[in-house]
Amino acid sequence: MTRRPSIFSSEDARIAAQKRLPRMIFDFIEGAAGREVASRRNQSRFDDILLQPRAMADIGSRTLTTRFLGRDYALPLGIAPMGMCNLAHPRADTQIAQAAVDWQMPVCLSSAGSSGLVDMLRWSDGLAWFQLYFGQSSEVSFQTVDRAHAAGYETLILTVDVPEVSRRIRDQRNGFGLPFRPTPQALLDFAQHPRWTFSTLLHGVPAPQNFASSGKSFDRTASRAGADWHFLQALRDRWPGKLIVKGITSPEDALRVRSLGVDAIYVSNHGGRQLDSAPAAIDLLPIIRRAVGPSYPLLFDSGVRNGEDVVKAIALGADFVMIGRPVLYALGAAGGAGLQSLLQCFAQDIDLTMAQIGIARIEDIDTRTLFSAVPQAASGDTLLGPRTLATALRPLQEPARK
Ligand SMILES: Cc1cc2nc3c(=O)[nH]c(=O)nc-3n(C[C@H](O)[C@H](O)[C@H](O)COP(=O)(O)O)c2cc1C
Repeated sequence: MTRRPSIFSSEDARIAAQKRLPRMIFDFIEGAAGREVASRRNQSRFDDILLQPRAMADIGSRTLTTRFLGRDYALPLGIAPMGMCNLAHPRADTQIAQAAVDWQMPVCLSSAGSSGLVDMLRWSDGLAWFQLYFGQSSEVSFQTVDRAHAAGYETLILTVDVPEVSRRIRDQRNGFGLPFRPTPQALLDFAQHPRWTFSTLLHGVPAPQNFASSGKSFDRTASRAGADWHFLQALRDRWPGKLIVKGITSPEDALRVRSLGVDAIYVSNHGGRQLDSAPAAIDLLPIIRRAVGPSYPLLFDSGVRNGEDVVKAIALGADFVMIGRPVLYALGAAGGAGLQSLLQCFAQDIDLTMAQIGIARIEDIDTRTLFSAVPQAASGDTLLGPRTLATALRPLQEPARK
């Protein structure tokens, strides 16, 4: 008898993960910078964006296939880079890689990932992308880049929104750090979650596998300020594959990144984990789209919790959408089965949302699918009204096509 899935939404997964994971681990996943306002705002701003239902449209045969950076994916979705996924579940990385194969979706291995880059690419049948954090020096960073290239990665993401790791109050309270130093409070926390603790010990305590090849241990709080414009230029010259820059939220930065020959920009505020006063990522997306023009590739994450959010992000200018925390919640809640249920929910939601708004193909989702309560207000549109968006999406200048 097959077990009925117990995850029907990101919130289900979050609640179940909170029960199953030690508080220190759950807080590491859920936590954010400061008072965690930006993290909440990322989600709540999605609720302010409405879609326009359409009737009697030709939606009998719908497809979620999405072409991005020269490749077809089954969904407009991927899994965002997240460090130390095996803390959520001892086999999280293999289950993420399996999801890549099953769903034909890109998944990202972080520099701070808990599996090696060769393994992850093999498990995911070549679908993994590698995410780079600047580490220690340009030389050390380029060693990592060269290892990723030698392993066969075709897509590299440089994350630039962590010049310094923010203070995350939950982590400080819980004494969470890497390398991990057990405190009595942490040991009590683990003892109260024996299932997680035993399976984690059984599979080996996770450790970052890719940060440095210099023999030094990973320091989560080390400065990453070396990821500057010179570094990006040098990285572009060195990396022959697709290059994505993650963590861009300003139009000026976006234009400069584009001018350096980067293949795509990943609009994200790191899930509110870096700057608590950052604007909601979804509010920044149409602004970046306007800056870079209609055809420059954009990815998006931060606050995406269901398929309707995915459709809204695409309507506001994203070509591809990445899921972050919900993946770790689902893995923490129910391992690989949890992740599969979550992805099923996303895929169904995207498909059913498209049916409601009269859209049969992902590439047909645009600003016209958004609802505006005051479409033609004389003195000004609503922030997200179609006229504003049409203006917002008009390019400042056409991007050079590569
Ligand atoms: C536990 C955790 C670890 C993360 N580690 C990384 C990382 O190593 N590299 C990176 O670029 N982003 C990292 N991120 C940020 C995610 O890639 C993504 O931008 C963020 O989770 C999106 O916000 P959301 O999860 O609220 O949707 C991490 C996020 C979480 C929750």
